[in-house]
Amino acid sequence: MPKLKIEGGNLLTGKIEISGSKNSAVALLPAALLCKTKSKILSVPKIRDIEYLLKILEVLNCKYEIKNQEIEIDTTNLKNNPIPEELSEQMRASYYFMGTLLARFHHVEISFPGGCVIGARPIDLHIKGFEALGATVTLIKNKYIIDAENLTGATIHLDFASVGATINIMLAATRAKGVTIIENAAQEPEIVNVAEFLKSAGCEIEGAGTSTIKITGNEELDEGIIKVCPDRIEAATYIILGALIGQNLSIKNLNIEHIDKVLKKLSECGISYETKENEVIISKCKKILSTNIVTETYPGFPTDIQPPFVTLLTQAEGTSTVLETIYESRFKYTEYLKKMGATTITDQNLLTVKGGTTLTGAELYVPDLRGGAALVLAGLIATGTTYLDNISLILRGYEDIVEKLTKVGAKIEIIE
Ligand code: EPZ
Repeated sequence: MPKLKIEGGNLLTGKIEISGSKNSAVALLPAALLCKTKSKILSVPKIRDIEYLLKILEVLNCKYEIKNQEIEIDTTNLKNNPIPEELSEQMRASYYFMGTLLARFHHVEISFPGGCVIGARPIDLHIKGFEALGATVTLIKNKYIIDAENLTGATIHLDFASVGATINIMLAATRAKGVTIIENAAQEPEIVNVAEFLKSAGCEIEGAGTSTIKITGNEELDEGIIKVCPDRIEAATYIILGALIGQNLSIKNLNIEHIDKVLKKLSECGISYETKENEVIISKCKKILSTNIVTETYPGFPTDIQPPFVTLLTQAEGTSTVLETIYESRFKYTEYLKKMGATTITDQNLLTVKGGTTLTGAELYVPDLRGGAALVLAGLIATGTTYLDNISLILRGYEDIVEKLTKVGAKIEIIE
């Protein structure tokens, strides 16, 4: 199994270009099935989740062409073939085929999705949404069978502003008769990106980015086109790295607004940075102050940035706390930070981080995607060499991470 070998301690300088958002792209590819012929998605990151989604598109008899970062998808001969569990279990986003295939064929058979093990991650809100639109859902072993004679618009109140449920209901509602209203909808930028794509294909959809989304169902959607929005989680990860070991490190092609809460937290920690239109320039902060973080749905502090931020807090002066409110087991990576010398205490969903600790290279295992990013950052600031095993989880979500970091001076390589 390949591993990441990281030699810590080098200052990083130069530019890191941010890729298209993973969590947006993984919804846009399934969304393309709603278009009756072709659609084009620009700025698609080359990551493992996308490779698996393309394999699912092949199973569904779609044709696609990849040119640089653009994917053109042709659904003219789309077939509702069963999606093998070996593919759907590779990632969370396979659940978006529920919404799109339900809209197109009124029948879906798909297994429970995979994804990082960071909590129970049920999909009851997705299911309730489909049922509200008129579908019946049966679960046999691990497989969901979803049927609908007709899909009819409805008002759906989400008990929790779930990203996945909001997008999935939006997708299914594109072909429901009449108007669907999603109340307490998630407001993440990825939802706006998907809504913009649906609009480009002729769907009437209003309110994406707010807590109420209105979708007016349509018989068929035309050709759609969209550029995947910049990956705010990738951007924030590298900005945090810049605060740890940057030397005028420039993070480019991002949307500053999308990471507002992270930038505010960095300022609170005494970290300064320069912002330009689509760029943040940041250098190593000599005196990082401790802070308290509570993860929240957008526009709050993102749960996906919680792990890399904790690596930063191991270097702060004093003690910080992190309350994780989205996932019940997203602190596994701290066991590995402790192996490197960090001092953290987990009490259910509250983490206490004692700052000012020296991290030393160690042999570690990547427990999940963002936990893995936290360990990469830790390896880059540690003294000595760090080896990370199970790196496919990192490659699932960070495009060209090794190349991007090497280009700015990091000593990081994949070894067999
Ligand atoms: C998306 O997951 C992202 N994944 C996650 O990114 C991200 O952490 C999360 O949104 C929150 O921002 C993708 O976009 C593929 P949710 P999703 O539905 O849609 C509970 C990463 O590292 N819930 O908003 O699965 C759920 O258990 C990944 O890039 C229900 O109870 O997140 C969780 O506690 C990890 N029932 C909370 O809501 C449901 O039906 C948030 O889940 C749905 C969700």
